[in-house]
Amino acid sequence: MTRSDRPSPLFAQRRLARCHSIADLRRAARRRLPRAAFDYADGGAEDEVTLARNESAFDAYALLPRTLVDVSEVDLSTQVLGQTCALPLVLAPTGLTRLFHHEGEHAVARAARSAGVPYTLSSLSTTSIEDLAAAVPGPHWFQVYVWRDRGLVREFFARCRASGYSTLCLTVDTPTLGQRERDLHNGMTIPPRLTLGALADAALRPAWCWKFLTTRRIRFENVRGAGDADAGDLTTLWGYITEQFDASLDWDDLAWMVQEWNGPFAIKGVLRGEDAVRAAALGVRAVIVSNHGGRQLDHAAAALDVLPEIAAAVGDRAELILDGGVRRGTDVLKALALGARACMIGRPYLYGLGAGGEAGVSRALDLLRAELRRALMLIGAPSVRALEPGFVRRSAAHPA
Ligand SMILES: Cc1cc2nc3c(=O)[nH]c(=O)nc-3n(C[C@H](O)[C@H](O)[C@H](O)COP(=O)(O)O)c2cc1C
Repeated sequence: MTRSDRPSPLFAQRRLARCHSIADLRRAARRRLPRAAFDYADGGAEDEVTLARNESAFDAYALLPRTLVDVSEVDLSTQVLGQTCALPLVLAPTGLTRLFHHEGEHAVARAARSAGVPYTLSSLSTTSIEDLAAAVPGPHWFQVYVWRDRGLVREFFARCRASGYSTLCLTVDTPTLGQRERDLHNGMTIPPRLTLGALADAALRPAWCWKFLTTRRIRFENVRGAGDADAGDLTTLWGYITEQFDASLDWDDLAWMVQEWNGPFAIKGVLRGEDAVRAAALGVRAVIVSNHGGRQLDHAAAALDVLPEIAAAVGDRAELILDGGVRRGTDVLKALALGARACMIGRPYLYGLGAGGEAGVSRALDLLRAELRRALMLIGAPSVRALEPGFVRRSAAHPA
């Protein structure tokens, strides 16, 4: 019996069955995870204005249902970068995923595969490119940060190609790391300096602590061997990594990378129409409209708020993926109506992972699938492709 076939314990199943929304999964994750781990996922930069704005931006749009439409069959599937997706969702790259469950990226990728949606492995993953590809059939996507050492970037591309990754996703909103103050308070710093309070809090979660202490050490597996002798060690490597992020990244570098990869290429972290147009002209096939889930520049615009203008600027020159703040099926519906091909989700699946491993990620995807299906039926749209701006209206209480 493989791990994925193994039934999750009855109490975990019961816990997940009581979660009826992503907000319920968030509460369950908060109870199960040490505060430092939960806050690392849940928090954002500085005053968390953008984090909150990403979610509240969806409330500014009201839905306008069409009546008497045959919705006895509803098709949720779509094509993203030539790949058929059973749902208009892509799982976002998240670093340090094994902090939330010891099976980490494997659990997330298995749940993504079962749901028929792509999974994006982060450069800062706790499972290597090769290990994930061997454990869970893809095709997966890989997210790349740009390093000063371009040899490392080239090496990533070659490793992804050899392991059958379909799509490269370059994150462009991280010339330096955003200041996440919850992490500073908890000692989740670079290097990690867990405070006494954070350690005591972790001790109150024995199930998490037991797995943390008895399973493979959490390391940045993709960059092992780089830098000094024990470069896989988080404490030394986190510093190495931040030193290695290249703040001089520009359009010439993007052009080089698109050519070097020579396959489906997405950039993640665009908030302006002109940048999306310029990227498309260089051969980028998908633009991920994103502010990194409110973790980088605080006060940046909400991803949803800039989506319509980016859609108008880009037209059909690139596919758009909305990333940030999606917590409900109606959020997905609104993003698609406003021009996105699909949505990326980060925290929704991490809450599921923290609440119950692979089954928890599946629960998150099941909830979003059921909510989207119901919303499409109630709005009178028999497929996600039928969505268009006429289904939404910016409410008078939230003028543009
Ligand atoms: C814990 C955590 C780690 C993340 N790590 C990365 C990363 O390594 N690379 C990246 O491009 N984005 C990273 N992100 C951002 C996500 O890819 C995504 O943009 C964000 O989570 C979307 O917002 P949402 O959480 O509201 O869905 C991370 C987000 C979280 C919550």
